[in-house]
Amino acid sequence: MKIPDSKKTWCITIIVAFCLFGSILAFFLYFEPPSPVCSPEFALAENHRDPHPDEKPIVLLWFWPLGVRFDFKMCLTNFQIDNCVLTDDRSLYSKAHGVIFYQRNIAWNLDNMPQEPRPSFQKWIWFHVESPTNTGRIPGLVNLFNLTLSYRRYAGINVRNDLTIRDTESTEDFVLPKKDKLVCWIVSNNNPQTGTAVREQYYRELSKHININVFGRAYTGHALSYEEYYSTIASCKFYLSFENSIHRDYVTEKVNGPLVAGTVPVVLGPPRENYEQFLPSDAFIHINDFPDAKSLAAYLLNMKDEEYARYFEWRKFFTATPHLQSTQNEFIQPICLACKHMSRDRGFHIVHDLYDWYFE
Ligand SMILES: *[C@@H]1O[C@H](CO)[C@@H](O)[C@H](O)[C@H]1NC(C)=O
Repeated sequence: MKIPDSKKTWCITIIVAFCLFGSILAFFLYFEPPSPVCSPEFALAENHRDPHPDEKPIVLLWFWPLGVRFDFKMCLTNFQIDNCVLTDDRSLYSKAHGVIFYQRNIAWNLDNMPQEPRPSFQKWIWFHVESPTNTGRIPGLVNLFNLTLSYRRYAGINVRNDLTIRDTESTEDFVLPKKDKLVCWIVSNNNPQTGTAVREQYYRELSKHININVFGRAYTGHALSYEEYYSTIASCKFYLSFENSIHRDYVTEKVNGPLVAGTVPVVLGPPRENYEQFLPSDAFIHINDFPDAKSLAAYLLNMKDEEYARYFEWRKFFTATPHLQSTQNEFIQPICLACKHMSRDRGFHIVHDLYDWYFE
């Protein structure tokens, strides 16, 4: 049978259109943005909308964490966050949309928690920055909170020093700082009760094979000043970013410091895969990349300049933001983040088993 030409053309057009549609559909179904570093919040324009002053939620800080006070205005001056009314005035309890409780301040019998009934719109926020090793299991915290404020990846409000997408217009190209030391470590705590035995042992072993410049209270007896922190790290080729205890997602400012300073972190903590959920894989060296401390030392000692330079490639795409240093400042950022979160999250949440989640 002979098919007329016009019909043929039609057929082909339909087939081509079909295939085109199919591939566009497949693209949207299976395409994933390439980097896990940038949180999806960035993308949503509506998330950049700040609430009208009258709509700002009240967020009450129930305890000053460890008794340390600070100025709530720092949320605006340091983090450009001004989305809520932060207060420590407990008389505003019945109006507060969010109430933040710092875990370490909660009394074992809960008698320093609010005794009045909780308004139905109010969310209680569990605030904790320590690792499970350094967390007391205060009983009675089941079905009590609505949100968690923690470094854990699946916390309701996530606190960490994320890299951000580099703004190539406004940031200078990276220049490697002058290095006069090979390996450095700043350590203020070596109390084995806080879980430090693992890193202590690794440090001892590593120091048999390579010279380590140690700073900080734990071994030298005197603390490094805040001003000296970044410059000291910058003067070293490698920095030991050894966490005090090893837990999933527990990747702290110890890694952020060298990333900010322009130094390569050598990390000891959760497995490499966990770090890669937060950082580019070529931004750090993991101690588990080597069978033992001796081979790590050999790698650091023999690294060629070209190889070293590869650890800085990520800086073309991302920027590390300096973290605030004093204990006082350690608490500000999470509280500001809670403030920002409260202005956006109108949802209903219950944290059923806090410890099941946290200690899992
Ligand atoms: C907060 O959690 C409490 C306790 O689980 C629950 O009763 C309350 O309805 C929750 N409120 C909101 C606004 O999520």
